[in-house]
Amino acid sequence: MNRQKPPHEFPQFNDDVRDAWDTNADFWNERMGEGNSFHNSLVRPSMEKLLALKSGEKLLDIACVFGHFARQMAEHEVRVTAIDIAPCQIENAIAASTEYGEQIEFLVADATDNELLTRLESKRFDAISCGMAIMDIAEIEPLAESVARLLKPGGRFVFAVMHLAFNSPNSLSRSVERVEMEDGRIVDTLAVKISHYIDPTPYQGVAIVGQPVLQRYFHRPMSVLLNVFFTRGFVADGIEEPVFGLSTPSQALDWDNFHEIPPALAVRLRVLDTGK
Ligand SMILES: C[S@@+](CC[C@H](N)C(=O)[O-])C[C@H]1O[C@@H](n2cnc3c(N)ncnc32)[C@H](O)[C@@H]1O
Repeated sequence: MNRQKPPHEFPQFNDDVRDAWDTNADFWNERMGEGNSFHNSLVRPSMEKLLALKSGEKLLDIACVFGHFARQMAEHEVRVTAIDIAPCQIENAIAASTEYGEQIEFLVADATDNELLTRLESKRFDAISCGMAIMDIAEIEPLAESVARLLKPGGRFVFAVMHLAFNSPNSLSRSVERVEMEDGRIVDTLAVKISHYIDPTPYQGVAIVGQPVLQRYFHRPMSVLLNVFFTRGFVADGIEEPVFGLSTPSQALDWDNFHEIPPALAVRLRVLDTGK
């Protein structure tokens, strides 16, 4: 049967994704260390809240990059299996995590490959995390399949992405409008303008200025992303739209100054335990 791939799947870019993340591995590791302000102020607290990990649980961290989130979650006394498609990222993750011993296991694995299921299925996880990576993953149907099969009944899947409505950079412009008021006050208003949203689109970009090569991104609207999970029986029961606080003024158009527009979105999904 000649099955057409859905328009939100981009398997032709799988090798590009791995190669770019391998090439950028050391640069990212050095620049981001245990997390930049985007991670520490927005992503980590949102995901940590939604995951609500309990001591003794088993967590699978998908697309773990150099392992910082896995190490942070290990502080909750959970056992972590952390995977990434890029071998150089996993090398750096292992080197930075020796003090955690067997509490964290790192594996080179493609989250969209059936082989991952076969390797991990005997473990079944209480929770699965995937931070800031679904927009980097070329195929989300097999990702959802893996998550559905690797979670324990009632287990939670928490992901964070760049906000799909406000921060999907293939069409994003950020602007500041300066108005001089009659009473002499100057009022600056920050805004985002989005000119492309509904069509799933692959594009290239830079996550950290100066990184050696461009990386692939895959924009998908919220309905497409969530329906891939809803059609497999997941329901959403938690959502966070974090914004930066007022304390860290920086360059005018940095996200740190957008206090009304969330640049990231975190969602918790679970398959309801029907007792069957
Ligand atoms: C932005 S980084 C993830 C950041 C990290 N999870 C965090 O919380 O900050 C994206 C990662 O996704 C990984 N990746 C992309 N496609 C993947 C796949 N199919 N399976 C596993 N990892 C993948 C890349 O190698 C890269 O390390």
